[in-house]
Amino acid sequence: MAGRTNIKAQILGTSKVLRDAIARLERVARVHAVSVLIEGETGTGKELAAQLVHEKSRRHGRFLAINCAAIPKDLVESELFGYARGAFSGAHREHAGLFEQADGGTLFLDEVGELPLALQAKVLRAVQEGEVRRVGSSDVRKVDVRIVAATHRDLRAMADAGEFREDLLYRLRGYVIHLPPLRVRGRDVLLLARHFLKETFRSKRFSREAEALLLDYPWPGNIRELQNVVRAAAIDARRTIGPEHLVPHMDVDPPDSDGGPGSRTDAILEVIDEMGSASPAELRDATGLTRTTLRRAINDMLAAGIVQRLGEGRHVRYARATARDDDASPELTPRQRLIIRHVENAGRITRQECAETTGASLRTASRDLSELVRHGLLVPDGRPGKAAGYVLARPSSSQTTGPQCPSPTPPARPAQPA
Ligand SMILES: Nc1ncnc2c1ncn2[C@@H]1O[C@H](COP(=O)(O)OP(=O)(O)OP(=O)(O)O)[C@@H](O)[C@H]1O
Ligand SMILES: [Mg+2]
Repeated sequence: MAGRTNIKAQILGTSKVLRDAIARLERVARVHAVSVLIEGETGTGKELAAQLVHEKSRRHGRFLAINCAAIPKDLVESELFGYARGAFSGAHREHAGLFEQADGGTLFLDEVGELPLALQAKVLRAVQEGEVRRVGSSDVRKVDVRIVAATHRDLRAMADAGEFREDLLYRLRGYVIHLPPLRVRGRDVLLLARHFLKETFRSKRFSREAEALLLDYPWPGNIRELQNVVRAAAIDARRTIGPEHLVPHMDVDPPDSDGGPGSRTDAILEVIDEMGSASPAELRDATGLTRTTLRRAINDMLAAGIVQRLGEGRHVRYARATARDDDASPELTPRQRLIIRHVENAGRITRQECAETTGASLRTASRDLSELVRHGLLVPDGRPGKAAGYVLARPSSSQTTGPQCPSPTPPARPAQPA
């Protein structure tokens, strides 16, 4: 648990969305009477944020945490409130619960949405009146505990469904802070990735393509996923980490196989489709991206031929690119791009090789291959059964055509992979 280590220094990132959230955490930290509710997807740093509130509150007591989802329901009460001697079999001694232990400090109720309904009234009393009663005891004790709660669930919807007490919800929502997902933190991704890499492998580095992929990927598991992917890829790579080392460790299977509904590219395209074309200011407004992140994303999309620039200078707007003949399909997932690169290098790819290269299941490999056939990028090479492979529909000029790469004549109707 956090002692008085410097939590603020551990929170890396220079994006405006993150800095704004941190500023708000620091502001509310000093107001002890207000409970803080931290919302955010998994792995966005909610626990770190809770520790920051404690650190900046300068309370003399301890920071203690309970994960309501990780403790069996019938044990949560004795964990939080403690028990009297003989309260149940095995209760040989008196035990102070977390509320008492955190007296003068901060109690972090993680995954508060999982707090058993039957216990919520008792928690409300503790939060509101500062009164706790150990299990099996009638003595009421006074405590002074700052509450920080976190959830990735919609507590409002839970309250509407009768699964969460409304009064407790209002008490916890004294001040709500939303931690932004990693995919809207722009270049923080690279800063964090390099940091995690340096922690374990000082001499390794990312290739440019790997960095582009890190920026492109939607990171459904946020910072924790990034941490895991970077470490795992670094184990697989000798010195330079490329996309081929990252992809097998990425969670790109459904529902994120198309780059994820929340990816930056999707967010920008959504706005463009809505408005026909959009100015940088309109895109910033609608997507919440910072100036720098947006500029970067747009540059990548221009380079990939996904969008085009209309007008100049202050009148610049962006629209969907009109399809060009010589252009590779713009909306490929990182995994599909990896497949194309493999075929460019190796001449062909089988379903099995595709699964191995991308680290996906055979089923996902089949789906990716069908998609690429549908995009007109790959064609089946006509071999039967398991030997069936795919080759480029139009070999790129840089391609070294291998002996086993037949002349690619697209079939009248693209066949589906086995
Ligand atoms: N901005 C950051 N800079 C550096 N490390 C971070 C940052 N945010 C989170 N981390 C690290 O990422 C991991 C996940 O953070 P944390 O446990 O706080 O997330 P969480 O939101 O509580 O996740 P979950 O919902 O899964 O419990 C931790 O190892 C944490 O130290
Ligand atoms: Mg957590």
